[in-house]
Amino acid sequence: MSSTVIVGAQWGDEGKGKVVDLLAERSDVVIRFQGGNNAGHTIVRDGEEFKFHLIPSGILYEGKTCAIGNGVVIDPGVLIGEIEGLRRRGIDVSGLRVSANAHLIMPYHIMLDTAGEAKLGKLEIGTTKRGIGPAYTDKAARLGIRVQDMLDPKILRKKIFAAMEPKRQLLRPFERDPRLDLHAITEEYLGYGHRLEPHIADTARICWDALDTGKSVLFEGAQATLLDLDHGTYPFVTSSNPVAGAACVGAGVGPTDIDEVWGVAKAYTTRVGAGPFTTELFDEVGTHLRDKGNEFGTTTGRERRCGWLDVVGLRYAARLNGLSALAITKLDVLAGLDPIRVAVRYRSSEGAVLSEFPYHQTVLHGATPEYEELPGFSEDIGECRSEADLPQAARDYLDFVERQAGVPINLVGVGPGREQIVWRGDSSPSA
Ligand code: GDP
Ligand code: IMO
Ligand code: MG
Repeated sequence: MSSTVIVGAQWGDEGKGKVVDLLAERSDVVIRFQGGNNAGHTIVRDGEEFKFHLIPSGILYEGKTCAIGNGVVIDPGVLIGEIEGLRRRGIDVSGLRVSANAHLIMPYHIMLDTAGEAKLGKLEIGTTKRGIGPAYTDKAARLGIRVQDMLDPKILRKKIFAAMEPKRQLLRPFERDPRLDLHAITEEYLGYGHRLEPHIADTARICWDALDTGKSVLFEGAQATLLDLDHGTYPFVTSSNPVAGAACVGAGVGPTDIDEVWGVAKAYTTRVGAGPFTTELFDEVGTHLRDKGNEFGTTTGRERRCGWLDVVGLRYAARLNGLSALAITKLDVLAGLDPIRVAVRYRSSEGAVLSEFPYHQTVLHGATPEYEELPGFSEDIGECRSEADLPQAARDYLDFVERQAGVPINLVGVGPGREQIVWRGDSSPSA
């Protein structure tokens, strides 16, 4: 396992944090490559819960090099809060490195995110209102402020002025907001720079040094394939590229540096925010999934929309990311549902059979799922640790999903705990 990318294969919250935490044990470097604190990655270790928004999920291993790559947008106040929170819980954060080239989320980005959503009204995207979209917009417009700028008072002030100037009109409703005072922002961010300085580094070089000396690097994705700015359900997407290809850009390595790509998917589907969701359920099965799966957002606390597994979307994610393996999480949540349904194709509003994920937004919006039914299981599987421990119906379900997705399932989640996993095939670290 020299270098592996972990991506979400659905609409996010698949359990990437838990999978990264597991694989981090046998990796030398863990690096986040995109997104920001719109992400919420939960890890449960010895019954203790940790929620990460920016810091890579490998940080719970003492001294592990955990990097925030250049492709991430960083709210430095949130990052410092996260560092302090971990320190208070006795976690060693000395291995944390922050790319000097990563872009910063500024107070005006958060205001613009909120104002933009309000303006869209009923058409809102349902963003996390963390300023992610406006920060990436400034990056592309070459008006972004980078981590390294916090170390130079003159440059910082000039850049903030230049970035705010074209936004005057849009920021008019916040004109008197003290958070928008140029001097105050500059001072605030210089303070952040001072505190983060020991962690600021050339994170691409950290990856190269590891790869060039035969060490292993784990690339931690946030959000997911169907939220990808280019390939997801646009405009109901995030403003970065969560697909595996973006690991190269967002961490600073080449495609030939990547050995494996693991996609994480739930045994069903969830989505937070607006946008098409073909297998969404509004009945008691949806309620079962939400309640048993505790489907409430890690970042915003919003109720997640729930539905059956959609292998049309999963096949799309497999191809788009070049998945070499799948991790299926939350299989335990399906216990008690009989039959279990899996969407294997869609039907368009004109009646056409769609076996591929439609590229046209209107077609996707009008599509309805066609299901295959599989027998359910009622046993609590939270204590299962090998495939042989699982009920036959659960094993049949995994075989079915594996065949449909065309990608081997290496890992199965049977509960939130770090130990609540079943390795399949010869993927186990002890195999
Ligand atoms: P991420 O954003 O992809 O890292 O996922 P989140 O952490 O936002 O959401 C996944 C939730 O499911 C978290 O609360 C995890 O603790 C929990 N979880 C992960 N794997 C499993 C599993 O196999 N079973 C159950 N019941 N919960 C899980
Ligand atoms: P993790 O890493 C689930 C969704 C938001 C919204 C859309 C755009 O925990 O899987 P943004 O704030 O990014 O501009 O919002 O994307 N979204 C997520 N949904 N999990 C996430 O992250 C998400 N990050 C953003 O709900 O629909
Ligand atoms: Mg999450």
